[in-house]
Amino acid sequence: MDWRTKISDLISSVPVRLKIAGIMVLPVLILGLALNYWIRTGLSDWLSYLLTDERVHIAMQNGSRSVVIVTMMAAIISVMLTFFLMLILTRPLLHLRQVALNVADGDFSLRAKIWAQDEIGEVAQAVNHMIDRLVVGQQKLQRTNRRLEAVNKVIMAASRALDLREVLDAALQATLDVMRLESGWVLLCDSADPDNQPLRLVSQIGLESNWTDVLKGGQQQLCACRSDLLSGQLGQNASLRSCPCFYKLNPDSKPVEHITIPLGVRDQWFGVINLVCPQNRSLSEDDLDILTTIGVHLSVIAANAQLHASLVEKEAVRQALLEALVRAQEDERARLARELHDGTGQTLTSLLVRLKVLEKQQKDAQLRENVSELCEATSGIIEQVRGVSYRLRPSALEEFGLDMALRSLVQDMTEPAEIGVDFNLSLGKQRLPFEIESTLYRIAQECLTNVLRHAQASHVTVELLPLPYAICLRVEDDGIGFDPNDLGNGKKRPRLGLIGLQERAEMLGGSLVVQSAPGAGTSVQVRIPLEMEITA
Ligand SMILES: Nc1ncnc2c1ncn2[C@@H]1O[C@H](COP(=O)(O)OP(=O)(O)OP(=O)(O)O)[C@@H](O)[C@H]1O
Ligand SMILES: [Mg+2]
Repeated sequence: MDWRTKISDLISSVPVRLKIAGIMVLPVLILGLALNYWIRTGLSDWLSYLLTDERVHIAMQNGSRSVVIVTMMAAIISVMLTFFLMLILTRPLLHLRQVALNVADGDFSLRAKIWAQDEIGEVAQAVNHMIDRLVVGQQKLQRTNRRLEAVNKVIMAASRALDLREVLDAALQATLDVMRLESGWVLLCDSADPDNQPLRLVSQIGLESNWTDVLKGGQQQLCACRSDLLSGQLGQNASLRSCPCFYKLNPDSKPVEHITIPLGVRDQWFGVINLVCPQNRSLSEDDLDILTTIGVHLSVIAANAQLHASLVEKEAVRQALLEALVRAQEDERARLARELHDGTGQTLTSLLVRLKVLEKQQKDAQLRENVSELCEATSGIIEQVRGVSYRLRPSALEEFGLDMALRSLVQDMTEPAEIGVDFNLSLGKQRLPFEIESTLYRIAQECLTNVLRHAQASHVTVELLPLPYAICLRVEDDGIGFDPNDLGNGKKRPRLGLIGLQERAEMLGGSLVVQSAPGAGTSVQVRIPLEMEITA
């Protein structure tokens, strides 16, 4: 920083009052001192030509005294003028400064005083106008903040739950809290038949028991909430209403006033939240605005909760149907297996016995050979029927457990097709619940059927891995693979195999992952959770 900047900083930091005093007094003092100096030097030389030294000396003394007196008087007048100037110039400026400092500190209570209709007065007016606008802006901001805070509190409380009743309980409590009210209730239309049903009381806080009886019982017909809501007369804004159905309880008392917040989405009105408004409670437009905003958000949350409830219900029905379907499938398979084994199998066996008797009785060599061929064919059919019956209801699964049943299934299916197999079955003799064993068996069966039908594979790996609280089955082939994302083509015939696997796994709370790509083989992995820990 050079000396010029330092001086200019010094001058600019001097207060305005000092600057004015300096401007007024300094020139007078400088003029007085200069005059005094001139009288002592220039004037004395000049007078010495006209007067004696003694008279010059006396004249100099008188002159100097007069200059000092005049200078002093001029300085005093300057000071008085300065004071006057300060009064009319700097006082309004300093006041303005104080107002500005207050505003900067967030205090909008002070207003600038208008001393005169000059430029400073105009500045003061502009500052006052600015403060008024700031105050309006601040009030608006406070209102918006209050609204956001209130809405946020209610939404946060309501969003924590998923069940409709819990959502409405939480929403009602939070709304009462933010409005500093004590009691209220929520009525909902029965969505199945909104026109013929009274509104249903689903939540209430702080109501006397006889009020609750009214809301649950027949006197609710007197309540205009339902008809006004369904006819759309309530509109979408929160409003103050008085309820005749409570008036009926005690005709001498004044009607109960309540704030009604309609609940609805896209003009489909399905309920109201009513908050009891005590008589001494004054309600501002702002309060009603906040409640309207809360109502709009709660409507969406309540509608979502209703959707969630119906979705849960439908999912439960779907799950039950699916279980019944799989059970029916298993039962039907068992029945067919029994029929094949006990019916067709027995008949074929007795046919074979008779054929063998017939073969022994034949003397003609040609005929005996023919009957022997028939015996062989019948034995083959018996084997085939036994195989089908076994696949329909694998007795190995019931008798020896999953490891053995899978080993026999895989060998039976892959041997004729000359496909190499790798086993990694580490369950041993450990038994799992029957529905888990049969699900894993059926999944392996469908996977191997797919390998034989689609994969053109030369090798299959079948793995059964016990995990701490789950069991994992993996069937992997080295075949042509496919694109799992390209199965939903509606033009092709419906593919039920993989979908069925998925559903079987999900029925037991498990999951199924199919990994495949054209030319890269296929791997199907199923994971089923277990309640027990496998120790094998
Ligand atoms: N291991 C595999 N290798 C190659 N492609 C496969 C394999 N498994 C499945 N796919 C392909 O995925 C499709 C769907 O299989 P999915 O088992 O769902 O139906 P599908 O076997 O054709 O008929 P189904 O309903 O009788 O089981 C098959 O048509 C086939 O194109
Ligand atoms: Mg299939």
